[in-house]
Amino acid sequence: MEASGREQWGSRVGFILAAVGSAVGLGNIWGFPYRAFSNGGGAFYIPYLFALFTAGIPIMILELAMGQKNRGAAPLTFAKLNRKWEWLGWMQTFISFVIATYYVAIIGWAIAYTYFSFGQIWGTDTKAFLFGDYLGVTSSQFELGGLQWGVVIPVVIAWIVIYAAIRGGVKKGIETANKVFMPLLALFLIIIAIRGVTLPGAVKGLEFLFKPDFSRIFDFNVWTAAYGQIFFSLSICFAIMITYSSYLPKKTDIVNNGFMVSLLNCSFSLLAGFAVFGVLGFMAHAQGVGVQDVAAGGVGLAFVVFPKAISLMPFAPGLFGALFFISLVFAGLSSAISINEAVLASFMDKFSVSRQKAVNVYCAIAFLVSLLFATGAGLLILDVVDHFIMQIAITFAGLIEVMLVAWFFNLDSFKEHINPMSDFRVGAWWTFMLKVVTPLVLGYMAISQLWGDLTSNYGDYTDAAILVFGWLVVLATLVFGIAMQFVSWKDEELLTGDVLDKQAGIGG
Ligand code: PFF
Repeated sequence: MEASGREQWGSRVGFILAAVGSAVGLGNIWGFPYRAFSNGGGAFYIPYLFALFTAGIPIMILELAMGQKNRGAAPLTFAKLNRKWEWLGWMQTFISFVIATYYVAIIGWAIAYTYFSFGQIWGTDTKAFLFGDYLGVTSSQFELGGLQWGVVIPVVIAWIVIYAAIRGGVKKGIETANKVFMPLLALFLIIIAIRGVTLPGAVKGLEFLFKPDFSRIFDFNVWTAAYGQIFFSLSICFAIMITYSSYLPKKTDIVNNGFMVSLLNCSFSLLAGFAVFGVLGFMAHAQGVGVQDVAAGGVGLAFVVFPKAISLMPFAPGLFGALFFISLVFAGLSSAISINEAVLASFMDKFSVSRQKAVNVYCAIAFLVSLLFATGAGLLILDVVDHFIMQIAITFAGLIEVMLVAWFFNLDSFKEHINPMSDFRVGAWWTFMLKVVTPLVLGYMAISQLWGDLTSNYGDYTDAAILVFGWLVVLATLVFGIAMQFVSWKDEELLTGDVLDKQAGIGG
């Protein structure tokens, strides 16, 4: 037992499954395949791998080291690096809270669609079904249109699973949930991929995903798309990996774990690519159109295009559909568990309150806020909030994180912490990426995305909608973050004790 009394993972496999569970989410299934397709097909893998090795893995290793060394969720970890940086940990925590409240709505839709799959009750016009019959989308973000019970019920189901996992604690709850979800998710995706690539026309779809269009390599946007995909997909700069690694034992091969989690995550993306484009190829073939005419990403792919493809299946469409949507549910739940844990753990650290007490209050509040996304305006609000949180808040918080830690903190002290415990050592490569390459790329992305959103309204929504659900939400994460820095710690000793180094007899 740790002197600090912090919970720990039951095993290394348990940690890896949980971290991969966090990383593998909707982004892998509906984000990656379409991004690859629309950014040069096979040529996309060059910037993608480049982003993985120059930013993804270095930041992953950094965050794992930060949490494991400081044994805290994001606010405690940043406060221990420098008391003045606590706000950044809180800003990431509030960003995570916002994401947690709308991500659960999407899981809810996927639960409902698992059920709908059996009778393919979406009919022939899957778009009208989604926006009209199912979501009852209103005409603006400010016209709530009341709760949609078809969304509320599955959202409650999703919350029950999340609650059970985070209430159960690191080992009994979170680790167990991931030990169930992740192997099943891998199995389901393999089945879907095999079924997908053996459908007539599948090859045409895969060709779009893998045939390289090298001319796109010179397009700057392709590179930022690759970096964006890597950041989002690895769940870095989300407060999550810091929190999960704070439950690692005092001696842990950080480098190995960082590589393992990152590479496993990318393997899931590739697998999802086979599944999704196999099916899209089949769909194009069945309808006598081009793959580019049916290809889509995000909500459109999962809830408009896929239902249509499922209805066209020659054999057991209900089963195939249910497998696809349950995969989304499992991928989503394991990510949702991680993001809620990141928020919960921040408050447990700050107020030294027990998990049992904190979890009830936390889940009640988060559940109530999430109901906003189960109204008729839910999708419209979600669209704006998600865009601003991902494009502006996460990018800036990530940029500030890397700049503060790499420039103003002694990175070598992390190296001295990581290397004695790791088979592969981090050296000049790691430092250079964190000090130079990552800040440059993130800086460019942050500024160009900020400029884009300042000069035109995302999705052509009204000024009021963009202000309230975009800018003000981002501002709120910053203001709440700063405010929390002024709230005092229940147990000041948490901030000073470097229990780990003393115990391990290294560094320090
Ligand atoms: N890596 C996750 C994904 O690809 O979906 C990102 C994520 C989103 C993690 C939302 C957690 C979360 F709640």
